[in-house]
Amino acid sequence: MHGRRLATLDEIIGLAAPDSDDIVDIVKSWAKSNDIGVTVLDVGTDITNGHIEREKTTLGISIGGDGTFLEAARSLAPFQIPLMGVNSGTLAFLARVEPMDVKDALTAVYRGRASVNARQQYEVTAGDIETTGINEMFLQKHPPEDRYGTKVGSLHVFVDEEYVGEYFGSGLIISTPTGSTGRAYSNHGPVHYPQNNRTLQIIPHETISAAVDPIVVSQDSEIDIVLDADFDIDIDGGRQFERLEADTVVRITGANQPVQTVRTEYDDAFITALVDKLDWGLRTVDNNGPQSALESRPASSNFEERAARVAREAARSAGEPLRELHGQVENVEYKTDKSDIVTEADYQANYIIQTAINSEFPEHVVQSEENDQIVPEDGYGWIVDPLDGTGNFAHGNPNYSISIALLKDRKPVLGVVYAPESEEMFYAIDGEGAYQNGHEIQPTSRDRLDESMLLSGYDPNGEFLQAFYHETQGVRRLGSAALNLAYVAAGSADAVWEHDTHPWDVAAGLCILQEVGGEATDQYGSSYELSFNATNQRTPLLASNGSVHQPLVSHIERASSMNEWRH
Ligand code: IPD
Ligand code: CA
Ligand code: CA
Repeated sequence: MHGRRLATLDEIIGLAAPDSDDIVDIVKSWAKSNDIGVTVLDVGTDITNGHIEREKTTLGISIGGDGTFLEAARSLAPFQIPLMGVNSGTLAFLARVEPMDVKDALTAVYRGRASVNARQQYEVTAGDIETTGINEMFLQKHPPEDRYGTKVGSLHVFVDEEYVGEYFGSGLIISTPTGSTGRAYSNHGPVHYPQNNRTLQIIPHETISAAVDPIVVSQDSEIDIVLDADFDIDIDGGRQFERLEADTVVRITGANQPVQTVRTEYDDAFITALVDKLDWGLRTVDNNGPQSALESRPASSNFEERAARVAREAARSAGEPLRELHGQVENVEYKTDKSDIVTEADYQANYIIQTAINSEFPEHVVQSEENDQIVPEDGYGWIVDPLDGTGNFAHGNPNYSISIALLKDRKPVLGVVYAPESEEMFYAIDGEGAYQNGHEIQPTSRDRLDESMLLSGYDPNGEFLQAFYHETQGVRRLGSAALNLAYVAAGSADAVWEHDTHPWDVAAGLCILQEVGGEATDQYGSSYELSFNATNQRTPLLASNGSVHQPLVSHIERASSMNEWRH
């Protein structure tokens, strides 16, 4: 899965083509038996606020062919409701769930086993037209009055005000990645893998000039097309069709809102659909599955890798509501004192992460700051801080994170720390290196205090600050223990101090740090142990790149002997 995970489902809104009553009935009876609200409208009806109760937990479903899917995509995009396409019998690229799989696909969504991927839309203005589409916009020379008249014309194209040139031929196609397998493909455009691909491409249609190739531009580029003659504009294969007069300027750019499409294991995979539907020669698909060297290699069955993928997806999914609620928190609950707070956002993120892990690993205990579970002494268990740095979060400061660790016999074997605002994803699997957004990370090799930059967490009496501020290049107090550890592992600080830690604050960060050779002890240099007991015992933590560790411990010893460090 490449996108975020869809974790909750309370309501379904559907658009159905005529003659799809059988499938509509299946959807309705499935919804009823799972106590989920359902509304199905005829394709062509505009979906409005009145049809939707809970945007965030609503699933959109199109029942028909690609035309119905395109209509539903346009109608649902403003609400950012994810869309699943059921194919009711025609050849379809977008509606990819077959009728016999509908119930299973819905169950997969319900159980948190679906991912949501963003698909680029375009936004076009021309004359009176102002609309969006997900496939392609096609400009075709308006047919001549008599059959001997010219069927070609000129189009002048600009990208971000740079003149690209004159396209002389029967027309031009501007396609999204999703549209790349349609009209653009028949005109020698490249196939784009559509998931999370944010581009537009300019494809000449039956151009007279031989040396004109497709151009791919970013979703943010503005493409202006000036018509030298009358052309017909066709939005997404006939959804809107109009004649434009000579001198009209057509402006097309990426739409701000992508279409959120839902994928389950019941969708045809993209390349498989290509092989099937376009008869691609690169490989064949038969009942024995895909045949190619790569595909026939066993899929990664490594348990930790699968767990790491689930943890990263869970973190990304939980990051979405956090980004939305960031800085606008009104209901803060106080747990033990005025700085120990929890918000609605902590609970939402916690729910998403637990749902995602439970659906993949129902046999595992998930301990979290926001529940009363305790990971078992033996075997696997998860430990989660759904929002580390709630204080920062509630004040609109971006330095907060999500921390997810998998433990085996209470030792971290996998750690994921994700910072939603900066989209920094740190992760490590024991023995397999540590990464930030796909790039291997390493800590610094500094071993001198006077060259080091330190981080501090909770430091109630300011002892750490006092002891080290003048000895080093500075002590920064950022506000998320999990992220501090990830920063030390990635080399943007040399060490970190926390006066007390819970296991959920640090288990993931420590896994990442240990993987790159960092060190974690208490203030006296005795090795750090995660403490799991139910009495909420907290432990001090001094963690570093490894090489500056001994100088740190020796300096604390000196400060203690002079009574400047009392804990
Ligand atoms: C806190 C943060 C903070 C640390 C505290 C933690 P929370 O976690 O990690 O940086 O100094 O000790 O409790 O409450 O925001 O999850
Ligand atoms: Ca925490
Ligand atoms: Ca927390």
